[in-house]
Amino acid sequence: MWLSWREAMARALYGAGGFYRRERPHRHFRTSVHVSPAFGAGVTRLLARVDRRLGGPAVLDFVDMGAGDGRLAAQVLAGAPPELAGRLRVTAVDLSDRPRDLDGRIRWAAAVPPGVTGLIFANEWLDNVPLDVARGSRLVLVDPATGAERDGGPPSERDREWLARWWPGGERAEIGWPRDDAWAELVAALERGMAVAVDYSHTRQTRPPLGTLTGYRDGQQVAPVPDGSRDLTAHVALDACAAAGERAGAAETVLTTQREALRELGVRGARPPLEQARTDPAGYLRALSLATAEAELIDATGLGAFGWLTQIR
Ligand SMILES: C[S@@+](CC[C@H](N)C(=O)[O-])C[C@H]1O[C@@H](n2cnc3c(N)ncnc32)[C@H](O)[C@@H]1O
Repeated sequence: MWLSWREAMARALYGAGGFYRRERPHRHFRTSVHVSPAFGAGVTRLLARVDRRLGGPAVLDFVDMGAGDGRLAAQVLAGAPPELAGRLRVTAVDLSDRPRDLDGRIRWAAAVPPGVTGLIFANEWLDNVPLDVARGSRLVLVDPATGAERDGGPPSERDREWLARWWPGGERAEIGWPRDDAWAELVAALERGMAVAVDYSHTRQTRPPLGTLTGYRDGQQVAPVPDGSRDLTAHVALDACAAAGERAGAAETVLTTQREALRELGVRGARPPLEQARTDPAGYLRALSLATAEAELIDATGLGAFGWLTQIR
């Protein structure tokens, strides 16, 4: 059986018995959320800023889009300052079943509820939105059982338009409009507030010539065989998503790196003063371990290189 990559990814990740119907992501790879609670703390500070910008609405939403095990939602709920706590409504959105141990105050949903007033945060979600692959003037087809590829027919008109605008001349290009559509839907779900997408990403100036489609299983990078046994992911053309968000009503756009965004939110990886090791050894060790985790989140050659797309509506 030969399928387009978009169809093959959709079946392998989200079809009956698909990878994300069965598995929690953190069993297979670590996201920033799992590296350290410092990530959730930064996001909570961002939520407080959004609240001030909105003038303290009666109900403030935090939506964790593509929540996985819902840990970010739980951290934001637990870490929210008292002035937010009484007004905060936290929703975790994922296609998998609600985790058994999730805080009962967190709503679990399969889709973003409309009319969100607050912050929608999508950490490593868009890279899992299925997409097609083009090689030259042909769509690539894949055998789901083996991952073997062969040339298919020509890309559709919409594919060709997207490629011409966003990924011209690539030997092998990942056709990103399904991510643009997914992102635009998220921005449109905002009544008022901010949407943030965080992902491995590239822009028109930095497209990888051979694409980035790959697999992850049990903590290892593996071949992207779309047989349901592994995560399938491709970096995100966040500049194209930004343009789609603007068409969906976003009024302000910032596209930056995780390093810059988190540093601005106070995640700096600063080591405690050595003197503290003598006066307060336990506190020193705690502060040192926090600094190490923060440094990993903002490492310019690792998670710090992730793209942060922020849009306000
Ligand atoms: C890589 S995981 C990220 C998990 C979490 N955000 C984190 O950072 O640890 C992507 C998650 O997005 C979910 N997902 C993908 N498409 C979705 C959709 N259309 N609606 C809801 N959840 C979706 C998957 O089920 C998966 O749990």
